[in-house]
Amino acid sequence: MRQIITVATMKGGSGKSTLASCLAVHWHLTGRLPTIIDADPQRSIARLALRERALGGVPVVEDATNDAWKTAQNLAASGRPIIIDTPGFRSQATLACIAAADFLLVPVKASPLDVDRMLDTLNSLIDGAGGKRPNFRCILTQTIRDSVIAKQIRAELIEAGFPVLENEMVNRVAYAEAGLWGATPSLISWKGPAAREIAAIASEMDGIVGIKQAA
Ligand SMILES: Nc1ncnc2c1ncn2[C@@H]1O[C@H](COP(=O)(O)OP(=O)(O)O)[C@@H](O)[C@H]1O
Ligand SMILES: [Mg+2]
Repeated sequence: MRQIITVATMKGGSGKSTLASCLAVHWHLTGRLPTIIDADPQRSIARLALRERALGGVPVVEDATNDAWKTAQNLAASGRPIIIDTPGFRSQATLACIAAADFLLVPVKASPLDVDRMLDTLNSLIDGAGGKRPNFRCILTQTIRDSVIAKQIRAELIEAGFPVLENEMVNRVAYAEAGLWGATPSLISWKGPAAREIAAIASEMDGIVGIKQAA
């Protein structure tokens, strides 16, 4: 069975690369052996992997061509989970990576200003790949604790037919700080709040797609 998880949104700055790298490191530390495909020409994850902590040794394959999805399929044949980080725009490469995904994760930054536009564009992202709708979930990112904004956006997404993970990625400086060393919070403090948040997100995804154990 293959397991390709694509992380995509319409917008840059939604937390795609952060989430993709955090999930990959979490799975790596828990004994699954994920590979990240960096399909973004900005190379955020490839650059993280060049820093001191090198994402704890998670392999990163760079492919910002329209064939990134094929690279993903070839690597997935090994039976290991593949996480694809896509560019922040609706490119051919992104749509192909969505079409090839077993699961699509769509980070939504909890900003109240552009919800309407976001709902419009979400549909074209998710259906733009043609064929069947991918198995997908939205996830709220950079949320502020106890603010009404995230609750409101969650309600609007669900109302519009977009399922949302229960767990959120809270706005925490720990994510950016870990990145300074090419790490994620799971590598810095396994029991810290950000690492536990990532573990909760990963576990919720497990319940949906059953991320494959390394053979
Ligand atoms: N949960 C979070 N809390 C705080 N800062 C975050 C969080 N997620 C992402 N960031 C920061 O927001 C910026 C954009 O995140 P990034 O993952 O690069 O987004 P994208 O890949 O969608 O463009 C980065 O500076 C990152 O460190
Ligand atoms: Mg990115």
